[in-house]
Amino acid sequence: MADHSLPVLRWADPPDGPMLVLLDQRRLPTAEVEVVCTDVPGLVAAIQSLAVRGAPLLGIAGAYGIALAAARGYDVADAAQSLAQARPTAVNLAHGVQRAVAAHRAAGGDGAAAASAALAEARALHREDAEASDRMASLGVELLADLLPGGGYRLLTHCNTGALVSGGHGTALAVVRAAHRAGELRRLWVDETRPLLQGARLTAWEAAREGMPYSVLADSAAGSLFAAGEVDAVLIGADRIAADGSVANKVGSYPLAVLARHHEVPFIVVAPVSTVDLGTAGAATIPIEQRPGHEVTDIAPGVPVTPVGARAYNPAFDVTPAELVSAIVTERGVVSPVYGGNLAAVCSGSRPAESRNGDGMMKA
Ligand code: MRU
Repeated sequence: MADHSLPVLRWADPPDGPMLVLLDQRRLPTAEVEVVCTDVPGLVAAIQSLAVRGAPLLGIAGAYGIALAAARGYDVADAAQSLAQARPTAVNLAHGVQRAVAAHRAAGGDGAAAASAALAEARALHREDAEASDRMASLGVELLADLLPGGGYRLLTHCNTGALVSGGHGTALAVVRAAHRAGELRRLWVDETRPLLQGARLTAWEAAREGMPYSVLADSAAGSLFAAGEVDAVLIGADRIAADGSVANKVGSYPLAVLARHHEVPFIVVAPVSTVDLGTAGAATIPIEQRPGHEVTDIAPGVPVTPVGARAYNPAFDVTPAELVSAIVTERGVVSPVYGGNLAAVCSGSRPAESRNGDGMMKA
């Protein structure tokens, strides 16, 4: 596993029984406190309230959740159902749950050996995610070097895609981190990411820990930043990538893709193949989580900024069509141009990624 010091998620096994210990992301950056889950309802609540969040980490948490259910003697099928449905958009969650359930079943479906098999599978997924993260970081910096030969990148990102969402250094932010370590990051533009402020609270916190030069902006300021020529590339993660290359990610990603196209700036998605769902055809069938209105109407819990009774529109994610995505960086290669056949080929490992320079992919 890649080394990083963030205790984002860990399995503990004290005498009174196993537990999953999570860094409580709701409290960052003001407090670094943990939340302890000893049962599946507790973990589901942590997932739904975003104590633990981000597609890859949700997959890891889901797998450990099955291990927890098995080790504590709860019904694994019930646990699988409630965990997989806790948040509908990030397909990694269901994948992680399914992997641990399959390992549990293959080891007999009951008892200590099956519980150990589920835990071993969760640990394997955790490790694999760290490895995938390292690989995406390497491929991502190579891609940036090809696209922006002058170096000194000014990169814009949305939501949080770093070590807080991964067994390693994350997805898009892992690429930014690698660019920074190579001395090529001039500025990281961090969208605050309304309404839950994952950019302002979490990405800025990670960027500061890494010593990156960063600035936080209100989401609505991105347009003027592009117009001023201050953005060289956009890097984001994904919660689900459909078979046609449509990308579901934190709400506000799609407007950035439109801006990037208008300003001829590369729009790059970084995601492990576990985020690609070839069983979902396209945007119309990606389930989009709708969250409570108070997240929009209240600036902090119990602090409304709207008139009493105001209704709110609060989708957690939006979908960017494939034609607006310049490239998808996976641990198996770079998908570009982005279309269904190319995505499937790279994900299955049946074909190396196409030449990045010969196909005009970066002509926004
Ligand atoms: O609602 P969140 O905070 O779980 O949303 C997270 C995102 O949208 C991330 O961009 C996505 O999961 C990719 S993380 C590598």
